[in-house]
Amino acid sequence: MSTEIKKIGVFTSGGDSPGMNAAIRSVVRTCAYMKIECVGIYRGYEGMIEGDFKPMDARSVNNIINKGGTILKSARSLEFRTPEGRAKAYENLKKESIDAFVVIGGDGSFTGAMIFNQEYNFPVIGIPGTIDNDIYGTTYTVGFDTALNTVVEVIDKIRDTASSHNRLFFVEVMGRDVGHIALNAGVGAGAEEILIPEENLGLDRLLESLKRSKQSGKSSSIVVVAEGDKTGKNVFELKEYVEEHIPIYDVRVSVLGHMQRGGSPSCFDRVLASRMGVKAVEALLEGKTSLMVGIQDNKLTLTPLIKAIKGHTKIDKELIRVSDIMST
Ligand code: F6P
Repeated sequence: MSTEIKKIGVFTSGGDSPGMNAAIRSVVRTCAYMKIECVGIYRGYEGMIEGDFKPMDARSVNNIINKGGTILKSARSLEFRTPEGRAKAYENLKKESIDAFVVIGGDGSFTGAMIFNQEYNFPVIGIPGTIDNDIYGTTYTVGFDTALNTVVEVIDKIRDTASSHNRLFFVEVMGRDVGHIALNAGVGAGAEEILIPEENLGLDRLLESLKRSKQSGKSSSIVVVAEGDKTGKNVFELKEYVEEHIPIYDVRVSVLGHMQRGGSPSCFDRVLASRMGVKAVEALLEGKTSLMVGIQDNKLTLTPLIKAIKGHTKIDKELIRVSDIMST
């Protein structure tokens, strides 16, 4: 047990995700269990620069495990990208006698934490909290599973109206520049086609597939499109393109947007977040730093932040093959 660490800060940063509250709860409760003080930092690095802190004990996190969003709020801080901003943050942490922090967020948040650690030798541990599931060093990020369930539930609803009107729907999902949400939710929702940035098969292949669907007697279709897809056309332009080349299709578009970021976290995400929170605090108390907690083969792991921020989890080629076969 590292003797230096007596008070740990915890905060959420970047795009929020369902399960962040479960992670906060776990860090706070683990600190209480280990007889370590814990301080909540509001609005990520922005709040750190402003000294927006609140002491937290085991009771501060009652009844939040099932709540989407983050009770500590989240933000993206440009000022923290400056040495002056980080200096202000450091001063505030020291004034508050905070010895280390746990950052719950994505690669951008981890980059800030890594630089902060390098500049001030300040112990930091990351918990991957983002719906994108795009962080190297973990099979799952907190929020991904809940987002998948949200998307599948919505696509099931879209499929009802698509089949009532014999329509083709393009459904755009989040994921920034990766296709994990699109691929997994697309397979789960039985989409006829899934367009992801990792595999740009081109518009001809899309037209071919849609023509085949029609010829095979499918009266309605769902095409899931990752927002970072590389066809060069957004979903509205894809609609026009298909209407132009296959006029028999009656096409509509649904952009799911930020609903994918909300909702009560799934049990999977709650358990994942709870496990990661314990691991993060234990790592700090063992004197470890600049690492991200991950899960691989259902085992908790620690990956250097420098690696976590540099890589993306690879798209699952076997799942792409499954999706191709399911489109038969
Ligand atoms: O990183 C999570 C995410 O939801 C991405 O999937 C999406 O592209 C982005 O955040 C949206 O950012 P904002 O919430 O700032 O609009």
